[in-house]
Amino acid sequence: MTEGFETLAIHAGQEPDSLTGAVVPPIYAVSTYKQDGVGGLRGGYEYSRSANPTRTALESCLAALEGGVRGLAFASGLAAEDTLLRTVCRPGDHVIIPDDAYGGTYRLFAKVLERWGLVYDPVPLGDAAAVRAAMRPETKVIWVETPTNPLLGIADIERLASIAHDGGALLVVDNTFASPYLQQPLALGADVVVHSTTKYVGGHSDVIGGALVARDVALGEELTYHQNAMGAVAGPFDAWLTLRGVKTLGVRMDRHCDNAERVVDLLLSHPKVIEVFYPGIERHPGHEVAAKQMKRFGGMVSFRVAGGEQAAVDVCDRARLFTLGESLGGVESLIEHPGRMTHASAAGSPLEVPADLVRLSVGIETVGDLLDDLSQALG
Ligand SMILES: Cc1ncc(COP(=O)(O)O)c(C=O)c1O
Repeated sequence: MTEGFETLAIHAGQEPDSLTGAVVPPIYAVSTYKQDGVGGLRGGYEYSRSANPTRTALESCLAALEGGVRGLAFASGLAAEDTLLRTVCRPGDHVIIPDDAYGGTYRLFAKVLERWGLVYDPVPLGDAAAVRAAMRPETKVIWVETPTNPLLGIADIERLASIAHDGGALLVVDNTFASPYLQQPLALGADVVVHSTTKYVGGHSDVIGGALVARDVALGEELTYHQNAMGAVAGPFDAWLTLRGVKTLGVRMDRHCDNAERVVDLLLSHPKVIEVFYPGIERHPGHEVAAKQMKRFGGMVSFRVAGGEQAAVDVCDRARLFTLGESLGGVESLIEHPGRMTHASAAGSPLEVPADLVRLSVGIETVGDLLDDLSQALG
């Protein structure tokens, strides 16, 4: 019997504790483990950088939710990205990245991994011909975000997987915005899924974390080796908090989507809003692809404000229930100005975002209160 998503979220990797029957995996705050004779490890645990039971529970659960063979939990999303890239690439290799990638991911390529010898090209991933044209013999990875941050662009995962595989490259999908509840990249042909579990997976704005999930055993083994060798692991307290969040991912995502749809309706009819970015809107250029590969369209919404940059900043400043802050994916609604906040590091680059853009992470509060707050913030 195949278990449903919510059942896996609550039970996968989370068997009641064998000693006490505790229904929630305990926080194993421990660095080392007694061996029963040299090399006689209990359950494979020797040192918590290599493996820790609380982290194992989270990793098993994430692998089950993404339909992969191996899940790995890291100290942050960027730690997961760095470990993945330095596992599968060598200096001189080439990576195709989205032309509106998350600013921190772009910075990792532009300021850290380029110095290490990785070559990258930002390409509009919605344009399959442009992606094909950008492939080189040394291309090792096509890096996909869908939906993208902050412009909610959509890329066709199945199509890009076939382009990557034709060229001998891996398809990596950053599934942070959709979460495994709304989108399952591995089933569409991706090789690895990346998460900032800080966002929807954790869901409560109380922990930083990242994850990788591999589709294939050999790559899973290689990533596990590098997770230990590079050492950017999630600690047991963080793994526990993230796992507690995961249990309610499905119900939270449905409410995020319900509320976002109502927010989009308000924005579309508001005279001070000149453009709304949400893949659920029928005229969104990626709508058809999103409808094919996503269950619903998520809780992230961006829009451009009439009157330019200052008008967008003023909307952010006037919002009350929408808290002014970076990050996304928590139960509370957030508002931000990407140009000056999350995406400031992309200023002057091909990934610069419009100055009049506002980004919302629509939370799961009472929707009427969210609509009232947005209306007063827009003025
Ligand atoms: C889409 C996406 N990927 C990766 C990251 C990086 O994750 P972290 O902040 O957990 O390092 C973020 C952070 O905002 C993100 O939005």
